[in-house]
Amino acid sequence: MLTAILIGFMGAGKTTVGQALAETLDIPFYDTDVLIQQQTQQTPGAIFAQAGEMAFRLQEHAVLEQALAEPQGILATGGGIVEQPENLKLLKATQVPVIYLDAHFGTVAERLMGDVTRPILAEKSFRDVVELYQARLAKYQEVASLVQPVDNRTPKAIVTAIQQEL
Ligand code: S3P
Repeated sequence: MLTAILIGFMGAGKTTVGQALAETLDIPFYDTDVLIQQQTQQTPGAIFAQAGEMAFRLQEHAVLEQALAEPQGILATGGGIVEQPENLKLLKATQVPVIYLDAHFGTVAERLMGDVTRPILAEKSFRDVVELYQARLAKYQEVASLVQPVDNRTPKAIVTAIQQEL
């Protein structure tokens, strides 16, 4: 079984914290975006641009199911993992702790400013991103079994806090 699944908005630090946690525990690290890229040979950006968001979401659901079947590891998810009701069901049903990396909007906004690699940002105005953040907040909270505040904390401090909770 996986040791933990990290969820949260873009820029919350899921990949950074997940990698550090996996390294500390000496177990594999998985990232839904990377799994999608490995399986499709396309970046999330290319999939969004060529096939659309729904095609990406279907891939994301498939890799979430696959990752949940892994015998061990830490899984970092894309910020939009909570967009699909099927994923909410999987995240609620799993025995694996689902950790919400809870970042204030200001924290993620600062980190995402000028980001050209995330397709979801390319299509949206600042106002849209605020709305997306607000709409997703409730979903992250709904499926999380643990909440970890990340504002003004180093990845190392967050990893230590998570280890204490696991
Ligand atoms: C997305 C977040 C991205 C990636 C894709 C869509 C989103 O992952 O899955 O660009 O809808 O929030 P990160 O949260 O790792 O940036």
